[in-house]
Amino acid sequence: MKIKMRKTEEADLPEIMEIEKMSFREPWKKISFEEEIRDHESFTLLSGEEIAGYICGWKILDEYNITNLAVRPDLHRRGYADLLVSNLINTHKEDCRLIYLEVRESNIAAQNLYRKKGFKIIGIRRNYYLNPEEDAIIMGIKFPQ
Ligand SMILES: CC(C)(COP(=O)(O)OP(=O)(O)OC[C@H]1O[C@@H](n2cnc3c(N)ncnc32)[C@H](O)[C@@H]1OP(=O)(O)O)[C@@H](O)C(=O)NCCC(=O)NCCS
Repeated sequence: MKIKMRKTEEADLPEIMEIEKMSFREPWKKISFEEEIRDHESFTLLSGEEIAGYICGWKILDEYNITNLAVRPDLHRRGYADLLVSNLINTHKEDCRLIYLEVRESNIAAQNLYRKKGFKIIGIRRNYYLNPEEDAIIMGIKFPQ
């Protein structure tokens, strides 16, 4: 299957919303993705004609906050999230000093992914998440490395 990465388009949103609902207990609403496309940044990973996953984020001066990342559940463990994070790092390693994100303390899969890509724990946000209440681990990667 041909793999392709490109900027997220409005037409991707029905498929992205399906993946989002399967991936999170508190999924983003469509308007949040519309805002990411319009005001910030979002990449879509395609496997053939199908959307395999997406990553969104905000560049604020020389810092970059990854705000969302998910891969379609039936396509997990094929290296797609690795590709999405690698693409983001390659896009911003020259113009950002720090790329960071918040991740649920219980989300070991995502923490392993970020660790594999070179992120380290840089802080904790107490009770950052609701339903269920949980701390966020802040993971970041600094440039130049
Ligand atoms: C986290 C997530 C994006 C990983 O996507 P993926 O495409 O399956 O990940 P990859 O195949 O690229 O795996 C890359 C690395 O992540 C880690 N990883 C991924 N899934 C894992 C799991 N279930 N358990 C442990 N480690 C895991 C591994 O280190 C893996 O490297 P390896 O295959 O060499 O061991 C996916 O599980 C997902 O969409 N989860 C729900 C949404 C979510 O939690 N998003 C992140 C919010 S911060």
